[in-house]
Amino acid sequence: MPPQIVRSDYMHWAKTLQSAPYNLGNSGLSACPLACLPVRLEDLELSGPSFYGWPPLQSALAAHLQVPQNCLVQSIGTSLANHLAMAALLEPGDDVLIEAPAYELLVTTAGYFRVNVRRFQRPAALNFQIDWESLEAGLTPRTKLVVLTNLHNPSSALLSPESIRRAAALAARVGATLLIDEVYFDAAFDCTPHTSFGLADNILVTSSLTKVYGLSGIRCGWILAQPELAERLWRLNDLFGVIPAHAAERLSVVVLQHFIRVADRARGILNPNREALNAFLASRTDLDSTPLTAGTVTFPRVRSGRVTELCEILRRKYDTTVVPGHFFERPDHIRIGIGRDPVETTEGLRRLGLALDEVR
Ligand SMILES: Cc1ncc(COP(=O)(O)O)c(C=O)c1O
Repeated sequence: MPPQIVRSDYMHWAKTLQSAPYNLGNSGLSACPLACLPVRLEDLELSGPSFYGWPPLQSALAAHLQVPQNCLVQSIGTSLANHLAMAALLEPGDDVLIEAPAYELLVTTAGYFRVNVRRFQRPAALNFQIDWESLEAGLTPRTKLVVLTNLHNPSSALLSPESIRRAAALAARVGATLLIDEVYFDAAFDCTPHTSFGLADNILVTSSLTKVYGLSGIRCGWILAQPELAERLWRLNDLFGVIPAHAAERLSVVVLQHFIRVADRARGILNPNREALNAFLASRTDLDSTPLTAGTVTFPRVRSGRVTELCEILRRKYDTTVVPGHFFERPDHIRIGIGRDPVETTEGLRRLGLALDEVR
C-alpha cells in the first residue's frame, strides 16, 4: 500500500490561526493556572513506579468516576484514548459509522486506520440529536464501531441515557462497539448524569480533564472499557505511550484531591458566559440557534451564509475568532466557544455582533 498523508486541517488551524485577543474559537476552558491548586514541591517527582498507570492515580480516577479500576485505562488526553480505542477495535477494510457533524479528528483518525468511514446524521433540525433512520441505514455487517460525542461537538447537544442505550442496541445488532467521546460531558454541570459507561456491555467511553477544566497541559485522559478490552488497551498502549509522564500523573492526583476548586472555577466561567451567550443569541435574527443549556460551545447557522467573509472580518477588524463551520462539514454555521474569562467572552460576542452587522 502507498504511504498515506494523514493530517488534520482543523487541528492545524486551531494551533496556528485560532488565537486572538477575543478567542471564541476554543472549545475548552481558559488554562487553569498552577496557582489554583495547593501543589507542594514534595507532591511532585520526575519518575516513579508507573507502568500500567500509577496506582495512586488509577485509584483516585476510578473513585472519581465511580467505575471499577480494572475498567479504567489511562491515556494522554482524549485524543490518544480515541486513537487507542480505534487501534484496538479496527482492521483495514472494516466499516466505522461516525456522527455528522463531527469533531474532525474522529474522522481523520478512523481514516488513518484505512477503514471505510460511513456517517449518520445529527441534524440541526433535530437540535443535533440522533437521526435514527440514518444511524440504522449506516450500519452494515462489517461495522465494527459506531462513534459519537456526548456532549456533542460542535453543538453541545446532550443525549439521554435512553438514546445511548438505543444507539448501543443498534450497534450490537451487527456486533459493533459504541464509542462515546465524553470530553465535554462534565460541562452539563447540574444535569450531568453518570458516565454512559455501563449502560450497555458494548459501550466504550473516552474522556479527560482537559477541556472542561482548562487542564489540557497535564493530559489526564482515560478509556472506560470492559476488563478484557481494558487489558488489551493497556497492552496496545505499550506501542504508543509506553508509560505516562509521571509528573503529570502526580499533578492529576492533586487535581482530583482538590477537585472542587477546578469545578468551581469552571462553573464560575461558564455560567455567566452561558447567560451572556444566550442573551446575544436571542438578540440576533441573523443566527439560527437555540439557547445553550449545557456545554462550552454552540453551533448556530448564519442566515446570510457568508461565513468565510464573516470570519475574515471578525479576525482582521475585530480581533476575534470563531470556528468556521466548514471544519465541521457545515459551511453555513459557526462554532462559538464560551470558555474564556467572562470579560473577554462578552466583548468577543459584542464584536461578533458588529461583524455580523457588516455581512448582513
Ligand atoms: C470531541 C473531542 N474529543 C477529543 C478532543 C481532544 O481532547 P484532549 O485534549 O483531551 O486530547 C477534543 C478537542 O477539541 C474534542 O473536541
